[in-house]
Amino acid sequence: MTYMVNNRIHVTPGYEETFEARFRARAGEIDQQPGFVAMRVLRPQGNQAPYIVETEWESQDAFRAWVGSDDFKRAHANPMPKEAFGEGGGIEQFEVVEGTVAVGSR
Ligand code: HEM
Repeated sequence: MTYMVNNRIHVTPGYEETFEARFRARAGEIDQQPGFVAMRVLRPQGNQAPYIVETEWESQDAFRAWVGSDDFKRAHANPMPKEAFGEGGGIEQFEVVEGTVAVGSR
């Protein structure tokens, strides 16, 4: 059963490019983390919505192990300034109940 953890981040207008550039230049160590399945950075379309960093794991334990890892610390060691982020957001966790993917990507 896969497990999804989304981090919702309100990025202050004017900081979007920097925020996205950081993710493009990320170290990419998560790609090698045991139990990691996928991640996406979602840019909001429309008013007031936060960016979402969506991550998928083989289990909640796999996610927890990453959060406790040096890789996680390194990925967040040099944060953007406080004013780059707005109030609210934060993480939300889900068990995947059911789903499908296009036949061509199986
Ligand atoms: C409020 C605290 C957090 C903020 C503001 C934040 C923001 C960021 C930023 C800007 C980056 C790009 C790397 C860089 O800046 O050098 C990053 C990396 C990342 N963050 Fe966060 N993050 C936070 C906590 C979390 C949490 C709890 C998760 C769990 C879903 C998460 C998921 C990720 C992932 C998957 C990466 C890419 C890591 C890699 O490629 O190795 N972040 N984060």
